[in-house]
Amino acid sequence: MKKNKLGVLGASGRMGQEILRCLEGQTKFEAFLGWSEREKETGYKHSVTRLDPELVDKVDVWIDFSSPDALTAAIPKISRSKKPIISGTTGLSDVQMKKLKSLATNCAVMWSSNMSLGIAVLMKTLEHLQMISDFDFQIEEFHHKHKKDAPSGTALSLQKKLEKVTQTTLPAPLSLRGGGVIGIHKVWAFGEEETLCFEHMALQRRVFARGALWAAERLLKKPKGFYEFGDLLK
Ligand SMILES: NC(=O)c1ccc[n+]([C@@H]2O[C@H](COP(=O)([O-])OP(=O)(O)OC[C@H]3O[C@@H](n4cnc5c(N)ncnc54)[C@H](OP(=O)(O)O)[C@@H]3O)[C@@H](O)[C@H]2O)c1
Repeated sequence: MKKNKLGVLGASGRMGQEILRCLEGQTKFEAFLGWSEREKETGYKHSVTRLDPELVDKVDVWIDFSSPDALTAAIPKISRSKKPIISGTTGLSDVQMKKLKSLATNCAVMWSSNMSLGIAVLMKTLEHLQMISDFDFQIEEFHHKHKKDAPSGTALSLQKKLEKVTQTTLPAPLSLRGGGVIGIHKVWAFGEEETLCFEHMALQRRVFARGALWAAERLLKKPKGFYEFGDLLK
């Protein structure tokens, strides 16, 4: 079976390298193009700091775990190929998100602040909190000290969903940074006589890399449009 050529934005980073490890021994994707800011060997077949059309046109599907500015700079270069794009980059401004979404008129685009199955299930579960919408809610998130954005993209997605479900404006998520924590998210619901807490803990970065590859496989079969991780579970 012919492997799909994978182009990764942010190939030298923590997530780009985790994807590379996930590609070992599988038959669906070829680690074809690795784009990063500084010139270095990324382990992908072509390590590049420029997205030249000759290579871009050969990519079958893109995965992005870079930075908001890097993604914005890459969009005009990769859009010409009209190939599916999976983006997990967080911290995008409204304008940057709009640019990403505008690609969906020509190809399939999926953006998710969190590519884990557990968070996708938690998102659905939050709908039940409508029954206790008079409780007090608070989201907490914990991440490694190198994380650039706060609150995390996942905390903001959970917050958006919870505000929609409870029809209230909630206090901003609380962010803690330290050590090597991959990612912990807690959703608290405080009543007068009881407290409820949902907790998701990512044990390995691999969960996000695997999720992105799982999404890539599905997005290759989808028509153009904008998708979220949950849409691919249906
Ligand atoms: N959605 C999810 O499930 C999920 C999970 C984990 C992380 N994330 C998000 O994914 C993103 C990457 O995370 P990470 O931990 O892998 O970060 P990282 O280790 O800092 O890696 C960032 C990568 O982006 C590249 N890059 C940055 N600016 C660039 C530019 N201007 N031009 C070209 N390449 C550029 C870096 O290249 P150099 O090394 O050359 O600078 C590096 O390869 C973050 O936004 C993070 O929050 C999302």
